[in-house]
Amino acid sequence: MEQHALNQICRIQLELSGVHEGETIAVLSQGAERLDYADAFIHAAQDLGARAFHLRLPQLPPTGAWAVGQTALGSNPEAVEALKQADMLVDLIFLLFSEEQFAIQRAGTRVLSAVEPAELLARLIPTKELRERVEVGGELLSKAKTMRITNAWGTDITYQLGTYPTVTEYGYTDEPGRWDHWPSGFVFSGGADDGVDGQIVLAPGDVLLPFNSYVQAPVTYTVEKGRIQDIRGGLDAELIKSYMEAFNDPDGYGMSHVGWGLDERANWHGLTQFPGGMGMELRSFFGNVMFSTGPNNELGGPNSSPCHLDIPMRNCSLFLDDEPVVIEGDVVVPEMRPSNK
Ligand SMILES: [Fe+2]
Repeated sequence: MEQHALNQICRIQLELSGVHEGETIAVLSQGAERLDYADAFIHAAQDLGARAFHLRLPQLPPTGAWAVGQTALGSNPEAVEALKQADMLVDLIFLLFSEEQFAIQRAGTRVLSAVEPAELLARLIPTKELRERVEVGGELLSKAKTMRITNAWGTDITYQLGTYPTVTEYGYTDEPGRWDHWPSGFVFSGGADDGVDGQIVLAPGDVLLPFNSYVQAPVTYTVEKGRIQDIRGGLDAELIKSYMEAFNDPDGYGMSHVGWGLDERANWHGLTQFPGGMGMELRSFFGNVMFSTGPNNELGGPNSSPCHLDIPMRNCSLFLDDEPVVIEGDVVVPEMRPSNK
């Protein structure tokens, strides 16, 4: 994307995020990654009258796996202190699940992650309308005591809610200490640590992140008291098991966040367009039901495993306290549907 176009979408982003005169905006990058994004955010912040600085860390050596929570900030406490001083941090590294990000948020700094391809940032630019619908979902979810998910392939699992907060993601952030990720459009919470029981059967076309692949044949997860007891199926199941075993971490088998997607502009086939991205489009597509495994420290829980899978599913039904929210992949609560649906 041309720098001028990137500058423009970053300006829309920072405007939605409430950036104004008198604020300080920090941009964090590493190595040679996304320096054009850094320039665009600095330009946009100055355009809105804010002070801005760009903090560029050295590149971490590749680990061979997507180990969430381990970032170049871990060995740079002075950098963390500098970022805590900003009103807003634009994270171009992906700090999520790191102790450092949580410390920066606790200092009152709002954090926006932006790591997806620029073309996707442009197509899924956040809107206030999407935010409102995501917040309707957040309200409903935060009041619910149970979430039950089913599908035609045999999924029937129940999450006991109430232990953990509800998190909304709509792609921008204008509240102190709040994190968001551009692009996104979904809502989630987590079950009690020993309060998830049942079976999940992934169907062909369901999405494995961070493999960035589509399931080809059914995969059956058996879950008892918040822990995966068994994963069965064909090649996809073998790949999932092999990947998880490599972390050698029992906490990787915990059940993590769970929720549903609300952005009608996001495409289920998104991985065919951006195979190297982080899969935010897949987490966001309208009516997907996403469960995940591994860490729940993002929600304040005790599990900080680096082994994390996000699994958006199609054609599921989701009930909160037995009330339907999603039926066979379609969101049925009118206030959560876009006006053109
Ligand atoms: Fe996740």
